[in-house]
Amino acid sequence: MTDAAYVAGLDVGTTKICTVIARPSADGSLEILGVGLTPSRGIKRGVVVDRQHVIEAIQHSVDKAQRMADVPLAGAYVGITGDHITSRNATGRVHTTAGEVSPADVEKVIQSARDSVPLPADRQIIHSIVRDFAVDGQRGVKRPVGMSGNGLDVELHVVTGMASVIDNLERCVADAGIVVQQRVLEPLATSLAVVTDAERSLGVVLIDIGGGTTDVAVFDDGAIRHTSAIPLGGEAVTRDLARLLRVSHEEAEQVKRRFGYAMGDMVPGEEMVQITEVGTGAEERVPRRLLAEIAQPRLEEILYLVKEDLRGARLHELITGGAVLSGGTSQLDGTARLASEVLDGIPVRVGRPRNLSGLADSVSTPVYATGVGLAMMASQDGTFAGPVAPAGTAAIPSRLRHWWEHGILPRIDAYLQRIWKTP
Ligand SMILES: Nc1ncnc2c1ncn2[C@@H]1O[C@H](COP(=O)(O)OP(=O)(O)OP(=O)(O)O)[C@@H](O)[C@H]1O
Ligand SMILES: [Mg+2]
Repeated sequence: MTDAAYVAGLDVGTTKICTVIARPSADGSLEILGVGLTPSRGIKRGVVVDRQHVIEAIQHSVDKAQRMADVPLAGAYVGITGDHITSRNATGRVHTTAGEVSPADVEKVIQSARDSVPLPADRQIIHSIVRDFAVDGQRGVKRPVGMSGNGLDVELHVVTGMASVIDNLERCVADAGIVVQQRVLEPLATSLAVVTDAERSLGVVLIDIGGGTTDVAVFDDGAIRHTSAIPLGGEAVTRDLARLLRVSHEEAEQVKRRFGYAMGDMVPGEEMVQITEVGTGAEERVPRRLLAEIAQPRLEEILYLVKEDLRGARLHELITGGAVLSGGTSQLDGTARLASEVLDGIPVRVGRPRNLSGLADSVSTPVYATGVGLAMMASQDGTFAGPVAPAGTAAIPSRLRHWWEHGILPRIDAYLQRIWKTP
């Protein structure tokens, strides 16, 4: 394949690493070309705890996706999450220079809002997203440049994270041979894949219940309003099952996926499930309902923490468009119903990546929502993921062109650039 106009998303999760390679189509949809899903190692709740394991797992996932898509990957949009993330809305105001809003005024007002956010040395701004402009107090302006007025206000959503945590993840990605084209807060990417424009303007909360974290993002009036990450996810359910049933972590995971329910009263009849006790190896039969009764309180805890988070941000009444669930744990039957009960009866649905063609079936579950969303974001920005021969390298000797086209030289190039940049 020679067409280099493809994009990529890399989701480095607590339980899995997912690489998605896709080609933007003219109608705005994404044609999925390749996907690489591998178990994650060395990541805990969005934080790198074992560099070597993370690098190897990323390489494995990228290689899988490259082989499926039959294209080389040089860069990707990379997701960031974890409870080190905080977000707040900031405002800024400037007087326009000539009674008309200029591009420089827009830059200045955004900068003044960014400057109003206290930023300790160990934190970095990940995103500053414009929610709204107002010209002479008239709100709802999306493109203020060229408008007449003396005053320009901006409302900005500013997301910050711990600099060292972000740097450690990005170094692993770079050492795996992939250039970080853009770091993206995961729920922002996920929302692109699973939340509709109508929901965004009504007011909606996206709840991505992953393995180690639950990401929350609230949108209203079509713009992001609140983001946060709760350090609990489906791994905690698996741990509870392993501990209370006295089975291995692997078996608990398997049993959860095959027989689990989010709510005890959803389990049909008196069905029994066979388990193997860890240590003794004794086989035992336990009621399927018991699995649900173990999972339910933990899921409720996660959802109550989401509710508290929304209350803390004074947002729980804004969410008229309901909630959209994503992440692997949303595949547990009954999770949407439980979420609706905890969140005072708001409508809740499980979101699956939309607007896809090509190998769309292979990414149609909520597990892929973040990876697909990252690729969608790259597509919106028109940032392509293939190796770009720098000016002058059109004349790469034919001997080396094979290495360039297969992504080997770009990886070496990315690595050298990184170590040259390191003081
Ligand atoms: N069919 C299923 N039924 C129940 N739980 C599932 C199912 N599939 C996956 N899970 C659970 O989903 C969780 C993983 O979800 P996901 O892949 O979204 O997480 P992640 O992106 O690796 O982690 P995080 O976003 O927290 O860093 C695991 O706890 C797993 O047990
Ligand atoms: Mg995730």
